[in-house]
Amino acid sequence: MQLFIDSADVRELRTVAASGLVDGVTTNPTLIARSGAKMADAIAEICAIINGPVSAEAVATDREGMLAEGRFLARIASNVVVKLPLTPDGLRATRALTDEGIRVNVTLCFSAVQALLAAKAGAFFISPFIGRLDDKGVDGMELIHEIRQIYDNYGYDTQILAASIRSAEHVRQAALAGSDCATLPPKIFSQLYHHELTDSGLAAFLKDWAATGQSIL
Ligand code: E4P
Repeated sequence: MQLFIDSADVRELRTVAASGLVDGVTTNPTLIARSGAKMADAIAEICAIINGPVSAEAVATDREGMLAEGRFLARIASNVVVKLPLTPDGLRATRALTDEGIRVNVTLCFSAVQALLAAKAGAFFISPFIGRLDDKGVDGMELIHEIRQIYDNYGYDTQILAASIRSAEHVRQAALAGSDCATLPPKIFSQLYHHELTDSGLAAFLKDWAATGQSIL
């Protein structure tokens, strides 16, 4: 499964990218606003750090505006993926940009039928928001299972990008459900490394080793 980082904070992204395990980045208008950077500058910098898809979201709500913003964002770097909302105009713009060879990540997906429409519009990624559904008392992960089944039933090659991830457990479940990718806040990415038995096991090995007085080199 591809692991993306959900952040527009360049310093934070540089640190996580050093792991060598990051496949891409997603941003949204809230994350760009939080970074304090100018959108085009932030996206250009992120694209230079990450050798993989970087989602940059349009903010226009009409098809023509989305097309203009999408084309502008796509020109920033070859790894930009234009992010558009799952609205009628968003999907019409998705079809047009896809036909021009621009990859589109359709975002704010909360139902399997929305995901079906996005695939029919030619979306490269569909972003179902797990955590926000959980917040509403709905099992967000069930949506990943449903989309996986629908895409497999009909051979759609739109990639499922599990978003709004709130825990390492979400990542585990999304991987088991066959999600193609998951986008994680940096804090959750760091949590993937950890297990208490790894920490205690390593401490015990090192203690026993120290008692031998040996050194490997
Ligand atoms: C995905 O592309 C979104 O930017 C993100 O996952 C939203 O997460 P949130 O619900 O934690 O804001």
